Amino acid sequence: MNLCVLGAQWGDEGKGKIVDLLTPHFDIVARYQGGHNAGHTVFVQGRKFVLHLIPSGILHPGVVCVIGNGVVVDPVALFAELDTLQAAGIETTGRLLVSDKAHLILPYHRELDVLSEARRGERKIGTTSRGIGPAYEDKIGRRGVRTGDLADPSDRGPLALAIRENVAARNRLVGNADLHWEKVLAHLRRAWPRLRPLVADTSVFVHRAMAQGRAVLFEGAQGTLLDIDHGTYPFVTSSNATAGGAATGIGVGPGAVGTVLGVAKAYTTRVGAGPLPTELTGELGERLRESGQEFGASTGRPRRCGWYDAVAVRYAVRVNGLAALAITKLDVLDGLERLEICTAYRCRGEVVTEMPGDIAQLAACEPVYETMPGWTRSTKGLTKWADLPVEAQRYVRRLEETSGVGAAIVSTGSDRDHTIVREDGVLSHLRSPVRR
Ligand code: IMP
Repeated sequence: MNLCVLGAQWGDEGKGKIVDLLTPHFDIVARYQGGHNAGHTVFVQGRKFVLHLIPSGILHPGVVCVIGNGVVVDPVALFAELDTLQAAGIETTGRLLVSDKAHLILPYHRELDVLSEARRGERKIGTTSRGIGPAYEDKIGRRGVRTGDLADPSDRGPLALAIRENVAARNRLVGNADLHWEKVLAHLRRAWPRLRPLVADTSVFVHRAMAQGRAVLFEGAQGTLLDIDHGTYPFVTSSNATAGGAATGIGVGPGAVGTVLGVAKAYTTRVGAGPLPTELTGELGERLRESGQEFGASTGRPRRCGWYDAVAVRYAVRVNGLAALAITKLDVLDGLERLEICTAYRCRGEVVTEMPGDIAQLAACEPVYETMPGWTRSTKGLTKWADLPVEAQRYVRRLEETSGVGAAIVSTGSDRDHTIVREDGVLSHLRSPVRR
């Protein structure tokens, strides 16, 4: 009954829309990793919502949203997002829980992120400058601060001690002792009254809910190829965006994660540095960027665009155990005379069908393409498979064959309703939508 929705490419696949579309089948939407580096755009009846930290399920009254222990939380960003939702008339009271084990992004993590990028120079990752990497570094370094730690903000408590050590480490790194631990502690004390009602043992909450027969949708951020372990390291984010992250990032067993649905665009995009084998740098890339509005939802940066990379998606099928795909933005390809699908790479004279683990090798790879005819008719907003031009049907079928799994959903526009749900797909076993 549970489902995990995650990115099968380099992020920005349209997960926000797919999670929003499927939320009526669930009681709880739980975000398991990342932070406000994500930008999940959802259009509801022409109204645009961009969610960064709060699960997209919040747009559905009655659904409880969980920010799991695997997420890193910037309280300022969280409050700003709550304010925006409330201003838009969305009631969030009692509908959002934050794990007491979720680590905090502290005010200086952003500064360290920017500094680390500057120090890398040419080799910079192209991060979102949200302090995500430094917050996870502190977590793994076992000196991080968790939301639950704010319960005792006394001058001599464990929180104050941790902040002192962290600020001293920051000052050494920056080479400047201008930040005082008292200032950071005061910042957290100010955040606590608003954070306190949200903080809970969310693993217990999710377990109890599941025991009562409630269904959970696990929401991933970023994408498989940006995963800290399985992505194009070091050009990755600092968390496990892959399906395993759902279990560790919420505190459930792997079996509870349920079916895994990978979201993939009908082409490929990437924002930030790192290899992108099918990248189109000329006019075609520009055309995809313009018609797909490929600009970062968090940072506004233009995204790099390229043809569909079936090698990358097959890899995502393998490392996540994907049962099916949701293919998004098919309409962006309307009017293109021919389309290419990358089915393999040619690396140093050899044809390879598996994603190389070494990025120097990946960077030296050339895509091996298969050409398909495009279609002239608009697919925008279509809701029935039979209404798609035959060339578009053939293209989607070929994406399924080359990727190794079927497409349970084909998205033809940004609105909730601009969607084709394949009735014979793996989603047919989901619980019936709950009318709230
Ligand atoms: P960070 O997550 O800010 O540390 O950035 C690391 C890499 O992940 C950079 O290439 C970012 O552009 C990329 N990234 C982080 N979040 C997203 C996202 O939500 N969509 C797409 N790329 C992302």
